[in-house]
Amino acid sequence: MSGTCKTFGFVLTCYILIPTVACQLFTPVVFGMGAAGAASIVWRVYKYYYECCSSKWIAFNSTGLNVDLKQRLFGQHVASRVVLNAMKGFMNNNNNKKPLVLSLHGLTGTGKNFVSQLIAENIYKKGMDSSFIHQFVATVHFPHKSKINTYKSQLQRWIKGNVTNCPQSMFIFDEMDKMHPGLIDTIKPYVDYYKEIDGVSFNQAIFIFLSNAGGEMITEVVLDFRRSGKDRADITLKDLEKALSLSIFNNKESGFWHTSLIDKNLVDFFIPFLPLEYQHVVQCGMAEMATKGLKPNHTLADLVAKDMIYFPKSEKIFSSKGCKSISSKLDFYRDHA
Ligand SMILES: Nc1ncnc2c1ncn2[C@@H]1O[C@H](COP(=O)(O)OP(=O)(O)OP(=O)(O)O)[C@@H](O)[C@H]1O
Ligand SMILES: [Mg+2]
Repeated sequence: MSGTCKTFGFVLTCYILIPTVACQLFTPVVFGMGAAGAASIVWRVYKYYYECCSSKWIAFNSTGLNVDLKQRLFGQHVASRVVLNAMKGFMNNNNNKKPLVLSLHGLTGTGKNFVSQLIAENIYKKGMDSSFIHQFVATVHFPHKSKINTYKSQLQRWIKGNVTNCPQSMFIFDEMDKMHPGLIDTIKPYVDYYKEIDGVSFNQAIFIFLSNAGGEMITEVVLDFRRSGKDRADITLKDLEKALSLSIFNNKESGFWHTSLIDKNLVDFFIPFLPLEYQHVVQCGMAEMATKGLKPNHTLADLVAKDMIYFPKSEKIFSSKGCKSISSKLDFYRDHA
């Protein structure tokens, strides 16, 4: 993935600078000279391979996001609604006072990365391959506690450099619950209500935090709903807010939330992801078949869904891995059918 932060330092500086310089130089040169021919061919080839920070490459498609959330995301009616409203509110406002900060919470395989992907695909022409999307995974990019100070300054430079390059940058922080609190505090100034920091405005950027924190509490709420005979579809954000805040704000174990991000209310939306059930896993199986270009086969999707482990032990309602590893299970059952 080209937007993924793989390393720091010189390589990254070049990575940021080359497309920007090229985007800035080519436009005036080509059009300023009015040159057709070779220059325009070079420009076209350049544009084909590289993307620029312009409305040609970055434009929010709210209808597209709505359709994707409705048709491609299963079992997440609460998250769907919040994500769409948050994105519409932010992207349709030219005068945001701070960047958008979304925090996605839920058990494994419930669609947190998938939703980030849907958001990306409906903003950036290149989707997750956009060079304006930057992903960090706590255990991969910041594994050593002893290097925290180095990570801090690298992260600051990385965020600032990328937003200078393109104000509509998107930063995805995965495994937020495993990230050092000091590192999270480093992000704070960039997501706060500042007009500019050192001449750079961050108010068009999007920050997405992903974590499993709160997943168990969310599950408790869904279980209570079921046990009292109520319909999952009737669960609202309000029903889940208390569970989320208990597990995020009051959990002394979860050190990373003891940061100024929370104290200062800098997270705009906490978005709960519900645990997935058998029928959602079947839907994931059918969707995966379509992605692989296979003919829809409900029997095969059933086989795959039956192969997942469900909890709690007594009732076996929720898939313990959500929709994760559906793709490989599908390959296995197809080959052994
Ligand atoms: N609710 C869902 N609707 C449709 N597909 C889903 C859903 N949840 C998961 N998937 C499928 O499963 C894959 C894995 O899910 P994803 O990576 O989004 O999980 P996650 O919530 O980020 O899990 P983790 O906490 O382990 O990182 C996705 O790429 C997608 O294909
Ligand atoms: Mg994930």
